[in-house]
Amino acid sequence: MSLKNKSIIITGAAMGLGLAAAKELAGQGANLTLVDFNEKSLTDAQKELSKEFPSAKIVTVVGDASKEEDVKKYVDTAVKTFGRIDGLYNNAGIEGRQAPMTEYDINIFKKVIDVNLMGVYYGMRYVIPVMQK
Ligand SMILES: NC(=O)c1ccc[n+]([C@@H]2O[C@H](COP(=O)([O-])OP(=O)(O)OC[C@H]3O[C@@H](n4cnc5c(N)ncnc54)[C@H](O)[C@@H]3O)[C@@H](O)[C@H]2O)c1
Repeated sequence: MSLKNKSIIITGAAMGLGLAAAKELAGQGANLTLVDFNEKSLTDAQKELSKEFPSAKIVTVVGDASKEEDVKKYVDTAVKTFGRIDGLYNNAGIEGRQAPMTEYDINIFKKVIDVNLMGVYYGMRYVIPVMQK
């Protein structure tokens, strides 16, 4: 329980690496704010975690990590629920397409930049001031 009472946000938490990290952190006693835009998978993930770790404190936020307003919402929720933020796993991401640069679909490229670059930036932009406080 080395992370007892630590408040940690995970984006893209409904499946894959995000959910695996949530299980590891819940097992170490962390309070979790789980973020994903897939509402059903996020609900399923919360149920799975609560069953496996009955004492874990978990709040979920349905939101898109690439949208600034949604990032503000998950940061506010973590602060309102747990009073602090100790960690951010800025995990939400998409693979895009494998294609030569000159043939790449520009709209897909923009989406990759939005999620994988801007999403990560927004996360740090709004979490760091809370951590500094
Ligand atoms: N799995 C790998 O081998 C691997 C390798 C290198 C990098 N990565 C990166 O690690 C991260 C997680 O990978 P994974 O394999 O677990 O992916 P995954 O596709 O299994 O899960 C990603 C989760 O993020 C959510 N998500 C995607 N975009 C989102 C957004 N804009 N806002 C909120 N939620 C969003 C999805 O709904 C999903 O629940 C990704 O950023 C991926 O690019 C994965």
